[in-house]
Amino acid sequence: MTESAAHAELMNRIYRHQRWIYNLSRKFFLLGRDRLIGGLDAQPNGTILEVACGTGRNLAKIADRHPDARLYGFDLSDEMLKSARRALNGRAELAQADACTFDGKATFGVATFDRIIISYGLSMMPCWRTALATAANHLSPGGSLHLVDFGGQTGLPRWVDRLLRSWLAMFHVSPREGISDVLRHLAVKHGGTVEHKELYRDYAQYGVMRVGKQANSQQNCCTGSPGGRS
Ligand SMILES: C[S@@+](CC[C@H](N)C(=O)[O-])C[C@H]1O[C@@H](n2cnc3c(N)ncnc32)[C@H](O)[C@@H]1O
Repeated sequence: MTESAAHAELMNRIYRHQRWIYNLSRKFFLLGRDRLIGGLDAQPNGTILEVACGTGRNLAKIADRHPDARLYGFDLSDEMLKSARRALNGRAELAQADACTFDGKATFGVATFDRIIISYGLSMMPCWRTALATAANHLSPGGSLHLVDFGGQTGLPRWVDRLLRSWLAMFHVSPREGISDVLRHLAVKHGGTVEHKELYRDYAQYGVMRVGKQANSQQNCCTGSPGGRS
């Protein structure tokens, strides 16, 4: 079995039952998602992609705010996609794909997107650096990549940090260190700028990478860094 297939199987095992209570239960601890959605500044008829869209909760909110936008989402878990399909009812194009090998052209017939979001997805991807590079490769000229995820917990008491990390580990979630460095590296590569900040005493982190009007303009093929699934 490939690494990707094994990870998909793990995600399906985690979410097969969890997906029924996901939106309600995650409301209280996946903080910063609505802030990310509020900061999208999407253009009418623009394309918006959610990497690791889960139950489709974010795409449904984006659809309400941006009725003209063309929406796309993919996830590794078929189980999560069952919920997303029900929630979005055809409003977004959805597909099963791995964030680390995603190819927009092959999956949706779209090589680049105006806005790409990754919300609490990187902390579940062992290959998160490649996923970020792959997303950056799929940005349209002048586009932006928006992400929110668990932070380093530096502003919280040590015992809270320890408790949170061991609880998250039960769901195969690991807060990622170095997201801001990877974003800055990608911004240099794509001629862009980065905004990165800690939210809620570093419980969460929020980042936006905006690329220049020339970025990825020759794009026709879209997979991640040559480093593979790291
Ligand atoms: C915590 S959920 C976040 C869902 C949604 N973005 C949100 O904010 O509610 C993490 C999602 O990442 C997906 N995922 C994990 N690894 C992935 C990968 N390599 N490629 C695509 N999706 C992945 C999981 O299946 C799950 O739906």
